[in-house]
Amino acid sequence: MNYRHAFHAGNHADILKHVCLALVIEHLKHKAAPFAVMDTHGGRGVYALDGQEAQRSPEWREGVGRIWDWTDAPAALAPYLAALRAVNEDGELRTYPGSPVIALAGMREHDRLIACELHPEEAGALRRRLDGDPRAQVHQRNGFEAMGALLPFTERRGLVLIDPPYEDRDHETIQSIRALRAALDRFGHGIYMWWRPVKDVRETDMADAELLHGLVLGRTLNALRVDLAVDRVTPEGRLVASSVLIVNPPYTLAPALSEALPALAARLALSDGAGWRLESIGA
Ligand SMILES: C[S@@+](CC[C@H](N)C(=O)[O-])C[C@H]1O[C@@H](n2cnc3c(N)ncnc32)[C@H](O)[C@@H]1O
Repeated sequence: MNYRHAFHAGNHADILKHVCLALVIEHLKHKAAPFAVMDTHGGRGVYALDGQEAQRSPEWREGVGRIWDWTDAPAALAPYLAALRAVNEDGELRTYPGSPVIALAGMREHDRLIACELHPEEAGALRRRLDGDPRAQVHQRNGFEAMGALLPFTERRGLVLIDPPYEDRDHETIQSIRALRAALDRFGHGIYMWWRPVKDVRETDMADAELLHGLVLGRTLNALRVDLAVDRVTPEGRLVASSVLIVNPPYTLAPALSEALPALAARLALSDGAGWRLESIGA
């Protein structure tokens, strides 16, 4: 486990994932009943943008650095931007919030967060960050196993975010699909958000076709695929595109994203190869 999210925090991929996360949580609040969020790969909670790792790999400058002072951002970005401002209260962009902190920023006092993180240092940092928040439970454990053990939620409604580091891309893709399939058997109406890097668009399309085939097996699947690219995708180059597959997407999500994505792609573009995709998939 060599992956450290601090090198990548606040890049285009985080922005895509966290905008989707904040929008799904907004939707879950439409009903008064409590909900739960499980973050299977939680990370350390907050990232110092002036820290050593972020300075050595300043992906955030081309990411959140371009969003921070966006005065006329689309309304759909408001929940995400509110979470970003909440950790930079003095008006200087120094800190980037990770997914557990973004989730909690939108959650109410009776909602519940279960955040898993396997790396001891990252888990320790996350525990310290969330210490004292009665809504949050931090588990130093394998997030895929936690999906098997802790679903369905006692609340009977909520979201599972699956965000592996892809140190071994094929292995973690297979683990994610297996965990998703098993989770859907037990908690079929839960919302699932699965983030994937896109190094090759055709390969991701083919993986999705296989995934759907595997996931469907006797059930009707309703999913939304959301992609954001800041440059032309090349398999050898650095990561310039990513995709979130959302199973059981809230009906408010596609309209909100169709407002946000074109503006985001234009704002984060590194070349005319930037773009976005929003596609309903299912069977
Ligand atoms: C992409 S980062 C997570 C970022 C976080 N979700 C966010 O958006 O702020 C992936 C994290 O998963 C952790 N990790 C790796 N394998 C894991 C596993 N099997 N279960 C839980 N955490 C794991 C890594 O240590 C790393 O902190």
